[in-house]
Amino acid sequence: MTKLAKVSYSKMDVPKKGVAVFFADENLGFGNTAGEAVSGLEGGLERAAGIAGFSGKKKSSLDLIAPSGLGLDRLLVFGIGKPEDMTDEDWRDLGGTVFAALARAKAVVAEVLLDGPEGVEISAKAAAEFAMGAKLRAYAFDTYKSKKNGGETEKDLKLTLKVADPKAARKSWTSTEAVADGVILARDLVNAPANVLGPVEFAKKAADLEKLGVEIDILTEKEMKKLKMAALLGVAQGSVRPPRLAVMRWNGGKKADAPVAFVGKGVTFDTGGISIKPAGGMEDMKGDMGGAAAVVGAMHAVAARKAKANVMGVIGLVENMPDGNAQRPGDIVTAMSGTTIEILNTDAEGRLVLADTLWYTQEKYKPSIMIDLATLTGAVLVALGNLNAGLFANDDDLAEKLLSSAKASGEPLWRLPLSKGYDKMIDTPNADVKNTGGRWAGSVTAAQFLQRFANNVPWAHLDIAGTAFGAPKTDICQSWASGYGVRLLNQLVADHYEG
Ligand code: BES
Ligand code: MN
Ligand code: ZN
Repeated sequence: MTKLAKVSYSKMDVPKKGVAVFFADENLGFGNTAGEAVSGLEGGLERAAGIAGFSGKKKSSLDLIAPSGLGLDRLLVFGIGKPEDMTDEDWRDLGGTVFAALARAKAVVAEVLLDGPEGVEISAKAAAEFAMGAKLRAYAFDTYKSKKNGGETEKDLKLTLKVADPKAARKSWTSTEAVADGVILARDLVNAPANVLGPVEFAKKAADLEKLGVEIDILTEKEMKKLKMAALLGVAQGSVRPPRLAVMRWNGGKKADAPVAFVGKGVTFDTGGISIKPAGGMEDMKGDMGGAAAVVGAMHAVAARKAKANVMGVIGLVENMPDGNAQRPGDIVTAMSGTTIEILNTDAEGRLVLADTLWYTQEKYKPSIMIDLATLTGAVLVALGNLNAGLFANDDDLAEKLLSSAKASGEPLWRLPLSKGYDKMIDTPNADVKNTGGRWAGSVTAAQFLQRFANNVPWAHLDIAGTAFGAPKTDICQSWASGYGVRLLNQLVADHYEG
């Protein structure tokens, strides 16, 4: 796979080498600079479009060998339909599509003319979304391929975006690139195999954020024992790998402001424990730390773009293994909150890890809100597939904020219910609560379980089991791991908790 070496910006002028990319609307109108670039085409763009059947509609494109005399190799034209209808998401997807076309063309240098048809302004924001789409599309998990790209040597692509105001575009890109880097960090963590990335190694990756000015605190097993986190430790005890709890704090806001807290499920591998999972597809459970990965990625994003808000991330890191010392179905543990939990299925381990992580977060840090992300239930895939993460909340205002930021970021959420009736389904005669609620509404009863550990702090739970990995490929994601949640959490901070 061709990689994206660099995105740079320059002022609008006629491109001189490599591949030139420009955009045409549905009337085949395009910018003046592109007009100069295609002036050598006999009969102009219209004739070429007519022969090739290029309409200028969204998702259409035209690939031309550049006329001689320009110094260019190719002209790639992409349809943008009605330019005024192009959303941020459209520009981002188009960035992905354009990168893919350039990689197919084996381009090494490409210049994109972001000047649109006569009278149409392409904003700095749109240019940044375009670049993010290209960067996310270019991501490939090839760390363990001895021969990259099947042994063919391929040069990395240098992408130059030509814009009306390079200074404004660069500024917008600086913060957008911070978010793209956060997404890529989350993808790398989720894609990493569990023999390489256990709880200790994951905590070290979180600690790397110190370079960006994030305050780090890592709790060891000993410290968690002292805090009586028996729910989290009960899951960890079946593995020879010790657990960790990592706290990341970005203090970009006012000192007196209570932080926004993101909490992540970080099961670095989920065998199911004694309630062991079937062999088929178990390898996917290397991604059962997708919640924690999204939290680390989001912390990277807010720190790297220096968000003016107090944001923290807390992740519970364990490996769920069957072992002579593993916990059994029927065991009863006392969580840090004092709640006793009857474990009926050791494969419902994420909620046990989150029980102590959520309780610890609200008790120690008094956040204004808490949002947890977790690859929590297979049931959310039954309900929503790969296209929406499940949203649960004890607070309508927080749910509305999340839904609006989900729309704005292009990482969709769908709200599912919580209620007393569902809560009853996890009562047990043997303890305060049991860790499974039976066959029906599995995602809801899992969320009800978590709610008991949020202690009435405005809280939301995102079940990302369907969106963190294994979703169909898109214009901006060709990887198994998607990095879902990073853009959403960053958007939430930007829209509702800054300034
Ligand atoms: N990590 C799994 C959920 C999961 C399944 C994530 C598929 C991604 C893809 C979770 O720990 C789990 O095993 N949940 C059980 C709960 C059940 C035992 C109550 C499930 O969903 O089957
Ligand atoms: Mn499980
Ligand atoms: Zn799990």
